[in-house]
Amino acid sequence: MRLRVPAVFATLSLLAVPSPALAGAHPLRAKNGMVVSQHFAASQVGIEVLWEGGTAVDAAVATAFALAVVHPTAGNIGGGGFLLLRPAKGEPIAYDFRETAPAAAAPTMFLNEGRYDAAKHHDSHLAVGVPGTVAGLHLAWKQHGKLPWQRLLEPAIQMAEQGFLVTEELSRSLAGVLPQLAKYPASKAAYSRDGKPYEAGDLLVQKDLARTLRRIAERGPAGFYQGETARLIAKEMAARGGLITEKDLAAYSPQVRVPVRGQYRGHDVISMPPPSSGGVALIQVLNILEGDDLEAMGFRSAASVHLITEALRRAFADRAQHLGDPDHNPEMPLARLLSKDYARLLRQTIRADRAAVSSPETFEWPVESDETTHFSVVDAERNAVALTYTLEAGYGSKIVVPGAGFLLNNEMGDFNAGPGLTDDTGLIGTAPNLAAPGKRMLSSMAPTILAKDGALRMVTGSLGGRTIISTVLHTILNVVDYGMNVQEAVDAARFHHQWLPDVIRYERHGLSPDTLALLADRGHRLEPLGLLGVAAAITYDKEKDRLEGAADRRSPDSAAVGR
Ligand code: DON
Repeated sequence: MRLRVPAVFATLSLLAVPSPALAGAHPLRAKNGMVVSQHFAASQVGIEVLWEGGTAVDAAVATAFALAVVHPTAGNIGGGGFLLLRPAKGEPIAYDFRETAPAAAAPTMFLNEGRYDAAKHHDSHLAVGVPGTVAGLHLAWKQHGKLPWQRLLEPAIQMAEQGFLVTEELSRSLAGVLPQLAKYPASKAAYSRDGKPYEAGDLLVQKDLARTLRRIAERGPAGFYQGETARLIAKEMAARGGLITEKDLAAYSPQVRVPVRGQYRGHDVISMPPPSSGGVALIQVLNILEGDDLEAMGFRSAASVHLITEALRRAFADRAQHLGDPDHNPEMPLARLLSKDYARLLRQTIRADRAAVSSPETFEWPVESDETTHFSVVDAERNAVALTYTLEAGYGSKIVVPGAGFLLNNEMGDFNAGPGLTDDTGLIGTAPNLAAPGKRMLSSMAPTILAKDGALRMVTGSLGGRTIISTVLHTILNVVDYGMNVQEAVDAARFHHQWLPDVIRYERHGLSPDTLALLADRGHRLEPLGLLGVAAAITYDKEKDRLEGAADRRSPDSAAVGR
């Protein structure tokens, strides 16, 4: 294996890697392939795979394993997610490796004598779902990979074994989460120096993780779902009140799903179907917006912000009412939600001069945190991969499996709180998304690909819980409606509305005081926030046969790497 850690960094200078601080609004341009992820070393790992003749799926698999080492906030083997593939030839395909509830799960599992217990739901061993990442990556590789499986894990193994440089971004993030990690000795050992935070420039070595990755490299999913790794997970669960057993792990199976499809101003929109709500909500919003000329309304004019907000409000209301794991909700009205006719009806309910009022009486959402990671890959043949995966919260459950060196998710928190527990504090108790054995919890992740006239046009996605849907929407509108290049589209300030709470959240300084006043006049409540989402997007210009990629400067370690 020629990729050693120092080599990862040394070779960066040989490639067209923009410094996030210097890139201006110019995207990275390349002809033969591109990877954009939330860590420069992981993007580099992916591009080297393309260099060696790997497919976009090979590169995505290697990038995902690398992120599990260098971006422990959300990169993972102990979580789950979605991989959307649009092959240059053939039909798009969605790999669902969302976590599942263990066999002992029940709709009332987050209650204590009938009362809801938020800690059980989000911050306990009960919050851990059966991880899907390793099985999902392996399935996608088996169907669309070319390079040997072991080759794709090797860079991650090397970086875990020999260490990698802690960046400023990671050191801050680890210092922030240390008090929570410190509850668990294995977590404290993995991510601090005897309780002292790592500083930028330190080497972070993860020997246990390297051994686990090696088992996966040698045995495939059996190296995770059976044998030593499975035993270590089940042991930790049994010792601390968790439910996951070796049997649950052995039973995990990723699903191949048909992506949801829409049309937006001549673009084919391909996105993630349930158990994510991401694609359905995104396409619903685009359908509602298609009847109006957003560009003529003006970028970030009060009229356009109002319209987009009202479209989001309606899509999010439907999300709460209807969506959940398709294998447990055979009656979901997907065709209706995705139809242009339905969007027209919704559009008719939007008044230009007045915000609608979201009613808390019927539905609300569970808490979702905003730590996830998305990356985009395109190879020389123009096979495109959009991959979003997560541990749910940053560092998931904060539980590192003793002896196995990786973090477990707290994705069970994405299930509803309990039957009938809908109230105006933010709990939801509707049936489609209650916990049940083997069930997948509803997600908002929205890895998305656009095509035009049969050719690839854009690959996009973001982190951010429910705000993912808004961030992905903005990247698309900025390219399709406002004609921005992909870097401008990713840079532009964002806003978000999710039905409840009934408020427009906007990136500070992203809306002018005049616009804010006009929106307030219409009855909108507005709240500034720091940053919204971290996107990773690639556009393809068919005429020029050229890729353009944009890392999101909101997350400074992000990088687009091309070849
Ligand atoms: O699946 C979901 O939608 C959430 N668990 C994702 C959490 C998330 O995005 C945190 N992100 N940044």
